[in-house]
Amino acid sequence: MIRVFADNQALSQAAAELFAEQARQAVASRGRFCVALAGGSTPQTCYQLLAQPPVREQVPWEKVHIFWGDERCVPLTDPRSNAGMAKTALLDRVPIPAGQIYPMACIEDPETAARDYQRLLKNFFRPAEPRFDLILLGLGEDGHTASLIPGTSAPQERIDLVTSLQKPGEDFARLSLTAPQINLARMVVFLVSGQGKALSLRRVLNGPPAQIPAQLIAPRRGELLWLVDREAAGAESF
Ligand code: 6PG
Repeated sequence: MIRVFADNQALSQAAAELFAEQARQAVASRGRFCVALAGGSTPQTCYQLLAQPPVREQVPWEKVHIFWGDERCVPLTDPRSNAGMAKTALLDRVPIPAGQIYPMACIEDPETAARDYQRLLKNFFRPAEPRFDLILLGLGEDGHTASLIPGTSAPQERIDLVTSLQKPGEDFARLSLTAPQINLARMVVFLVSGQGKALSLRRVLNGPPAQIPAQLIAPRRGELLWLVDREAAGAESF
């Protein structure tokens, strides 16, 4: 399903309210809410809205467990860090127990870090399979999502749940949940904002299939939702 909003603020408000609703439902059903956050800049406003009234009071933060869909292997204080952005915009401002926040620490040895994060996920969700209640994703202008980046091995990974990669031209490695892991989720929500994403969004939703990584996202037993603003939607009628 695709919902088109007037602008990024309206999109972000809807995303924050959806996060709160999914959290309440998950806690009521399973006693906890397990969410993987998106990186990049688009979700920042959503995270800021989650950290302030009224939405802040609508989330059972003491039962929330925070993971990431992907990470750049840079220090937490580096402005490129996805965990660093979420920490500043949200996590330092809500009462989540520190032990319920699981950043993808990968500066030292990304390949080992990917295996370690995969082990963490398997142990956390055991005996069930690692199935997030919600995964938030962004969309790159090149059609990537999380760090499933065209031209790297990450989009093709079908066995591992977490993989490491290096995007050509970047001087840091990345970790990413793989398409099979993302597709296990109960709900996957893309947040797409801005005119710069219009072509990429059109290619994902209306273009020939299996061309770009974001097209790999199709939850097997879950819901896929696109929250886009009018600039990203362009003239398309989805
Ligand atoms: C990353 C992100 C990435 C992001 C898109 C969109 O670490 O690069 O996870 O997948 O969501 O690139 O980024 P913007 O929101 O900044 O446009």
